Amino acid sequence: MQQTTDGPGTTQKTASSTAMPPEPGSGKGRSHGTSSSEPFDRWFRYPAGFASDYVALLLQQLGLKQGSLIVDPFAGTAVTGTSARRLGHSFIGIEAHPAIAELASIKLQKPPGEPNLLVETGRLLVEKVSAAPLVYAADNLPDLVRRCFTSEVLSTLISLRETICASGSPWSTYLKWGLLSTLRDVASVRVGWPYQNPNMQRKPRHSDPLLRFVRRLEWMAEDIRKWDWTTSGQSHAVVAGDSTLRSSWQSIAPASAAGCVSSPPYLNNFDYADATRLELYFWGEVKTWAEMCSTVRAGMVTATTQQSSVVAARSAEDFLAKHKKVADEIKALVANLRDQRLLRPRGKEYDRVVPEYFASMSQVLANLSSALGANSSAVWLVGDSAPYGVYIDTPGIIGRLAREHGFSLEQDVKLRKRGQRWSGNSARHNVELSERLIVLRRE
Ligand SMILES: C[S@@+](CC[C@H](N)C(=O)[O-])C[C@H]1O[C@@H](n2cnc3c(N)ncnc32)[C@H](O)[C@@H]1O
Repeated sequence: MQQTTDGPGTTQKTASSTAMPPEPGSGKGRSHGTSSSEPFDRWFRYPAGFASDYVALLLQQLGLKQGSLIVDPFAGTAVTGTSARRLGHSFIGIEAHPAIAELASIKLQKPPGEPNLLVETGRLLVEKVSAAPLVYAADNLPDLVRRCFTSEVLSTLISLRETICASGSPWSTYLKWGLLSTLRDVASVRVGWPYQNPNMQRKPRHSDPLLRFVRRLEWMAEDIRKWDWTTSGQSHAVVAGDSTLRSSWQSIAPASAAGCVSSPPYLNNFDYADATRLELYFWGEVKTWAEMCSTVRAGMVTATTQQSSVVAARSAEDFLAKHKKVADEIKALVANLRDQRLLRPRGKEYDRVVPEYFASMSQVLANLSSALGANSSAVWLVGDSAPYGVYIDTPGIIGRLAREHGFSLEQDVKLRKRGQRWSGNSARHNVELSERLIVLRRE
């Protein structure tokens, strides 16, 4: 069945192509992020992650030959990548968040040796730290890191970090992620996703950082052991880069990809750099918010008001004016959002975010269109939004933009409601929001 939406929430059905399956009732859906128990997903819980059982179902539905190339322009923690590998396909993903791209890469690349060596190396480092914990200078640490842990736990975590960095071990990136994923387990304040709140105390989920670190390494080793790295024959990789740029797609030959399962950042949803602030600050990858903006956030799609700029929004409006199928719709949204902003004393600039966001989506769709072979499908999961109560049909607009890049919109299906988390907030709009699945076919 081919399904297209005739406005938010209504689904029309016409002839052809198989309908995508509904999400399994595993409770591991998008509202929960990646699973804390699935192999590879449990290495680090990413709030924006896919449920791997659903990705596997979607990939199977594409009816691909074994060894096909799957691409994901918003690869995140590579759930599409590990699912594609499990089904015998090759995979190339692109991810703008450098730390998340690093995590995705170690899940996909051949490990440097027998996985038990990872656990053995971790245990040796733990013994070292237990015998002689380092004295650290708390003053040099960002405030957020200092406030998330008791001083004893923080001292152990920092000793472990320094010992990993000095080890020169071929497993050091795995050890790093073992430690980074331990942080939220042993924090004594609220560090839920997406915001870390050091003002709210809580009982740590695990009291001993060293034991928890080793446990996490054991999981990684178990997962690595499950996969036959020598005979898989396909290639799997994540490029750290911005998928709006052609240069990030260089390793994908034109028309070589057979499918895409992806999920772009949602408009007016959360900021991935901010959501991972604790890990980035702890590892010293960024030291200040300014550094975060100039490095981690630089290649990301503008999806929040904190990321937008006047100049970028203007050039995005010019760019979109060339896209006739959506130009009027975007202009009307911008005007409406500008009016809403001016009604408020310190109104947020959603009117700048909207053109920037869709200009980026258009660039990604153009790159994806070149990468996909004729007749192949791209499945995107994406939510709509309603800043200041102004409804933005993000999945629908992406579908209409895609037509300008050689795609037809084959299905647009509502998966579930979203935004319930804030339903008790009386200051919030009451527009019903949902998460949708769109299927684009490369013509
Ligand atoms: C909804 S999440 C996708 C998560 C992924 N499906 C997973 O299972 O982990 C969107 C991802 O897009 C990334 N992103 C944002 N802008 C990007 C860009 N211009 N190029 C590549 N990735 C980008 C974000 O950092 C985030 O990880």
